[in-house]
Amino acid sequence: MRIDIITLFPEIALAPLSESIIKRAQAAGIVEIFAHNLRDWATDKHKKTDDYLCGGGQGMLLKPEPIFAAIEELRGEGSRVLLMTPQGKPFKQEMAQGYSKLEHLIILCGHYEGVDHRVIDELVNDEISIGDYVLTNGAIAAAVVSDAIIRLLPGALGDERSHQDESFSDPNLLEAPAYTKPNSFNGLDVPEVLLSGNHGKIEAWKKEKAVERTKANRPDLLD
Ligand code: ADE
Repeated sequence: MRIDIITLFPEIALAPLSESIIKRAQAAGIVEIFAHNLRDWATDKHKKTDDYLCGGGQGMLLKPEPIFAAIEELRGEGSRVLLMTPQGKPFKQEMAQGYSKLEHLIILCGHYEGVDHRVIDELVNDEISIGDYVLTNGAIAAAVVSDAIIRLLPGALGDERSHQDESFSDPNLLEAPAYTKPNSFNGLDVPEVLLSGNHGKIEAWKKEKAVERTKANRPDLLD
């Protein structure tokens, strides 16, 4: 897979993707990641990428010309163009799974009040939000979305089974609580069932706890 991120802050997008699992996935040739500075496609002498809103209003908007030039240069036959914006569809694990099957993603990062809507009408396939809050810029969101996708690529995690039990592989259930050694710590004990060696009982306990945890933290998933 290839991911091209278009942003005013390439370092912000790349930093979280330059360590650990995603770093190894790049080294192994599983994914190629490029972060481009939108300013490189600005044509005027001040390298201007934003402007005031037509019709008035607070803030600035990313101009269409540099974005059209960037995407037209980077996109190919099978490219999908995502825009990171708080106005987008909520990003979900199943979307990460869908995107992980594609060859090429172009991720455009919003900034200030967003992007000129002609960009969305003409170039963007999907508008994506990573949550109901507003970040200073979409490069952070692009790193989040890229990470969630790349870790699903075959070979990225090393151990393929790691995907099976995790939260959202069943989209309606969070993961059960988990424990490691020591079995007793400051008077706090690991639940006995997990030390019983009885796999049937352990699976039943995990299911019960997963439902309890989902009810407590994400009741919306059970509706
Ligand atoms: N840019 C600013 N806030 C965002 C959000 N919540 N999701 C995606 N992109 C954003």
